[in-house]
Amino acid sequence: MKRLVCVSNRISLPRRSAPPGGLAVGVLAALQHTGGLWFGWSGETSEEPSAEPELLVRGNIRFATIDLQPAEFEAYYSGYCNSTLWPLFHYFPDRFTHDQHHYEAYHAVNARFARHLAKLLRDDDAVWVHDYQLIPLAAYLRQLHFQGPIGFFLHIPFPHLQVLRLLPNHAELVRDLCQYDLVGFQTDDDLRSFLSCCEQPAVRSQDGVIEAGGRRVRLGVYPIGIDVDQVRAEAAATQAQETVERLTASLLGRKLIIGVDRLDYSKGLTERFAAFEHFLETFPDNKGKVTFLQIAPLSRGNVHAYSEIRETLERTAGRLNGRFAEADWTPIRYLNRNCSHSTLMSFLRAAQVALVTPVRDGMNLVAKEFVAAQNADDPGVLILSPMAGAARELGGALQVNPYDKRGMALALQTALNMPLEDRQQRHEQMLAAVREHDIHSWYGRFVYDLSGAVIRRPTEARAVRQIRNRRAEATAGEFSFG
Ligand code: G6P
Repeated sequence: MKRLVCVSNRISLPRRSAPPGGLAVGVLAALQHTGGLWFGWSGETSEEPSAEPELLVRGNIRFATIDLQPAEFEAYYSGYCNSTLWPLFHYFPDRFTHDQHHYEAYHAVNARFARHLAKLLRDDDAVWVHDYQLIPLAAYLRQLHFQGPIGFFLHIPFPHLQVLRLLPNHAELVRDLCQYDLVGFQTDDDLRSFLSCCEQPAVRSQDGVIEAGGRRVRLGVYPIGIDVDQVRAEAAATQAQETVERLTASLLGRKLIIGVDRLDYSKGLTERFAAFEHFLETFPDNKGKVTFLQIAPLSRGNVHAYSEIRETLERTAGRLNGRFAEADWTPIRYLNRNCSHSTLMSFLRAAQVALVTPVRDGMNLVAKEFVAAQNADDPGVLILSPMAGAARELGGALQVNPYDKRGMALALQTALNMPLEDRQQRHEQMLAAVREHDIHSWYGRFVYDLSGAVIRRPTEARAVRQIRNRRAEATAGEFSFG
């Protein structure tokens, strides 16, 4: 039996109160099912990090964390991860910066992660690495002679070569990705973009394997999902919570439009605020009758682009409220605070409309959570940007281009006035889609593929294919991890 070892830049420790994001929820769900180890950064910095990872055991999961040095935090996390890779992978070439020193720090931190992790690994482990912060990790683990399967899942978009090649080290990045046995993406588009970046036009065999850099790498699309029943239960159970009751009471019967996003320029928040303003101008009957609640917890505050967008949004919300507010009505309620996951789910349930309008997003789980949290008898309407991976599955949403403020204003007006039957039909379609690609199918498929992914020679590949075909007949999700 293999043990599953997950690695991510930041890990979500059970003792911390901050609600985990999509990546952390997904990793936790996988590990709760299979048991295993989760290794990553503690979220803390220290001048002299301890020589050994800090260990914590909760149920069937072992957590192992290390601290970053302040200089690593600056150059690796704020620098290469969030000022180079994040903007470029989200198609923001004008926000991206390249600094060779940051790239070296990125490699140095990945090498340090690998050294610590290698000491904790057993021969029969399967390693699942998460996200753009850790692309070179497999190469370092291989140097340290780890022979087991190593998989990588990218939670954010992968850019087309036309964009990626703005990065001076782009070829190395792609070569590093090819050191994995399995590389997973959120959507087909991301996978195709990755193929555009492979040195030769890579040919994908029927079972998704390519030959690149002398290695055979299996590629796949694994759209991340949510735990539908848990979200539904949380949304219903916390309705009676004081915070939720206070929100509902304070609306005084007005309709609620909601947005929930980490404060990030990729989420389309400035465009969303502008569209809401346009909506109030174009459809003035809504003045005093709708409230827009935007929850946007602060993020990556020491990166310039993030402090900049924070200031812009504060200014815009203040100006808009100054322009339209009445003594007893504030059009936008803008919160930089976080709430517990269950409170958020109840807020989503209480809303008639959700605005999920990123200008670029890997998947966007808020879109799926909004659908799951709704009361099927009287569901709200989702306004969704086609730039979110979730738009591939949620055909029942009103799709709008996040840059088109007229289109967004019209979508808001349509959503607020949509007849019940129409809302129910759309909701039914979306709930079925959210159930089909839920969190269990996400990790189940990835871990299953990872268990058969160590394919180095063609003969082995044939044998593995035969085993896979036989296994595929067995019940989905039955993989050999214990
Ligand atoms: C996104 C990324 C994750 C990251 C999360 C929070 O969802 O895909 O890798 O962990 O944001 O970002 P932070 O920089 O605060 O860890």
